[in-house]
Amino acid sequence: MQISQFDMIRMQCLYENDVEFDLSETTVLPLKVSELLDGTDAVEHFISRELYYPEAQGSHLLRERIAQFYPDCKPENITVTNGGSEANYLTLWTLLEPGGRLACMIPNYMQAWGLGGAYADGVDAFRLVKQESAGHYRWALDLEELERAVSPGTNVILVTNPNNPTGSILTAAEMDAVVDIARKAGAWLVADEIYRGAEVEGPTTPSFWGRYEKVVITSGLSKAFGLGGLRTGWVVAPPELIAAFGIHFDYLTVTPTLLSDHLSAIVMEPQRRESILARTRDVIRTNLPQIEVWLSGQDDLFTYIRPEAGAFVYCDYTIPINSTELINRLRVEQSVLLTAGDQHGLDKGLRIGFGFGIEKTLRGLARVETLMRGLM
Ligand SMILES: Cc1ncc(COP(=O)(O)O)c(C=O)c1O
Repeated sequence: MQISQFDMIRMQCLYENDVEFDLSETTVLPLKVSELLDGTDAVEHFISRELYYPEAQGSHLLRERIAQFYPDCKPENITVTNGGSEANYLTLWTLLEPGGRLACMIPNYMQAWGLGGAYADGVDAFRLVKQESAGHYRWALDLEELERAVSPGTNVILVTNPNNPTGSILTAAEMDAVVDIARKAGAWLVADEIYRGAEVEGPTTPSFWGRYEKVVITSGLSKAFGLGGLRTGWVVAPPELIAAFGIHFDYLTVTPTLLSDHLSAIVMEPQRRESILARTRDVIRTNLPQIEVWLSGQDDLFTYIRPEAGAFVYCDYTIPINSTELINRLRVEQSVLLTAGDQHGLDKGLRIGFGFGIEKTLRGLARVETLMRGLM
């Protein structure tokens, strides 16, 4: 099997620990283990755990609490994985097959794109496009393109909502349209909802769970919860599909990890879950306006649509340089790591992560400005 390189992740793995300013992240500063284990009993309980193999699908307690994050969901609908990437991998590895096709939302975190190229006969893009209405811009779903992308051979449609890298959220009408198109095609609808809960304004993004009998949700604790170090992801699916995932998981990592399962169950206790998500939104709501002040001084260099979720903003730039070349120069010459439009299925743009310390982020952005102005 041939698989294409996942450019963005390869770059982050190689360089994110070497640069002075890593603005390639999409999450917020993580909590410490000690903040999750508050109280002697909790510490005692954690350190006295015997390191048996964990339950393959994840502990009942964790699955019960994950299920509470979705409407009408039960522990039998959940399987816990090692990170959101494994949740996506397990899902697409199980569902994609030769002879079938994947319809994939673009722009995106391009994992599904690469997996579709490897496991299915091909991938068909449908896009989020910039749309203006009464002076207000948003990233809207191109429904006509979605209809064209879904053919009788399509067995999976993949959406990322809220979206990475645009931070946009589908409207209720767009969600209904996606479900209608999936239903007509009889295709599985896979919704990567790992940024759900990290909204800039308004309520928690509605889930696709429960809108169609062939919906699969992938998610995890790395993004909206800011806890990437736990490597906890999950899939929500009908029980028959959970069983099929088990058959594949047995050839992969077999189980999640015991200590992360323990800590993740603490995170997903409903009150704690909501307080961690509120903390993430606080960081985003504090930092985004400061990034926007910086961007307003750069309107000859950048245009952007305000993200609706996530600790990142996607900006188009005006200077004549390819985005991969630009991020390579920023890394080598200015020690700043950003992701490129190219790495998300877009073109001349940069994704700026702002969920870590805002002062340091602004210092990194000053270096971005220096290099880019030199290229004008
Ligand atoms: C949309 C999306 N899904 C999944 C992942 C992978 O998550 P994890 O780090 O938990 O493997 C990412 C990471 O950036 C992402 O942006």
